[in-house]
Amino acid sequence: MTDRLYIGIDLGTFQSTIATSKGDIHTIETVVGTPKDPVARNMLGRDTLFGEDALKNRLACNIFRPLEAGVAQDDSDHLNAAKDFVTHLIDTAGCDEYDEVYGVICSPSHISFTDKTNLVSILRGKLTAIMVVSEPFAVAFAIQQLMGSIIVDSGAGTTDVARIVGRFPEDDDQLTIPEAGDWVDIELMKAIQKKYTGAQITKDMVRRWKEKNSYVGDKIKEVLVDLSVEGKSQRVDIGDLLETACDELAQKLGIAVKRIISSGDPEYQPIFRKNVYLAGGSSQIKGLAAKVTEYISDIGDVSVSAVKKPEHKVAEGALALAESMPDEEYTSIV
Ligand SMILES: Nc1ncnc2c1ncn2[C@@H]1O[C@H](COP(=O)(O)OP(=O)(O)OP(=O)(O)O)[C@@H](O)[C@H]1O
Ligand SMILES: [Mg+2]
Repeated sequence: MTDRLYIGIDLGTFQSTIATSKGDIHTIETVVGTPKDPVARNMLGRDTLFGEDALKNRLACNIFRPLEAGVAQDDSDHLNAAKDFVTHLIDTAGCDEYDEVYGVICSPSHISFTDKTNLVSILRGKLTAIMVVSEPFAVAFAIQQLMGSIIVDSGAGTTDVARIVGRFPEDDDQLTIPEAGDWVDIELMKAIQKKYTGAQITKDMVRRWKEKNSYVGDKIKEVLVDLSVEGKSQRVDIGDLLETACDELAQKLGIAVKRIISSGDPEYQPIFRKNVYLAGGSSQIKGLAAKVTEYISDIGDVSVSAVKKPEHKVAEGALALAESMPDEEYTSIV
């Protein structure tokens, strides 16, 4: 008998995860670093660095986030970085020990068809056969909500919203909006800079503050952070600004959910309204499900919940799909 490994891959703008039928699961930040000059190359002792390793050495490296929204996909540096990254992610799974590797892959929705061709060329030689599915569909599979649900996958680069009706979603079952984690970071950064003129902050600083303290709700919390204003250290409260930025995302999600419900089959709409699930890293904003419920409550009796452990849900669902699909559903890439 041939030895077959199944894998589920979540290629994310911000971080990527691989789950295997051996039971392993690995997450790596979608970052690639290449040494800036021969001195850096000598010191680091390697040509390519990934994830945390790249970030730790970022001053000595050119840093790429090759799957980020807005990155020109025909730019050769980014394309090479994307290739190196995907290869590295697959290598962490030990695919080489198997005769066959069948993989289900979720890639960001802004990656167009031509880039999927790129994806196939990257995976050729590593995998035997692949199937590409959307992130919300993988989540629906992971939480076993296939027979009438709305899945909202709010990641870093985009929020994908899909109607799930017991089959693969078609194009008009799904919509993508640009408001997600990165958008919240930028809105919050602008608001901080407006309130504290001369504040010297980076998007990464803002993201870390957000991840630690994010919330929505009527009760404004105090969130103290240290920043430099024109070189002078200052401790400031960003609690109100953080709530506002997260609330704006909740509003955008609400509008998208209403759109996807109202354009669905009317007989299914009552089921959709009662089965809305929030996933993706941005679903970890405290109070988000309650807030989205509030924003969509004018369409009737609704129920919105946030999935547990959203970081791994896409890859877990992709793996579960990989294990349960018949071979004919796969595209051979040998
Ligand atoms: N506790 C938290 N509160 C708010 N946002 C969070 C929290 N933890 C993580 N995030 C945000 O979640 C996002 C990452 O989510 P995820 O890993 O689902 O994205 P991704 O899959 O890489 O992106 P995409 O699906 O858009 O390609 C980042 O913007 C991150 O800041
Ligand atoms: Mg994602």
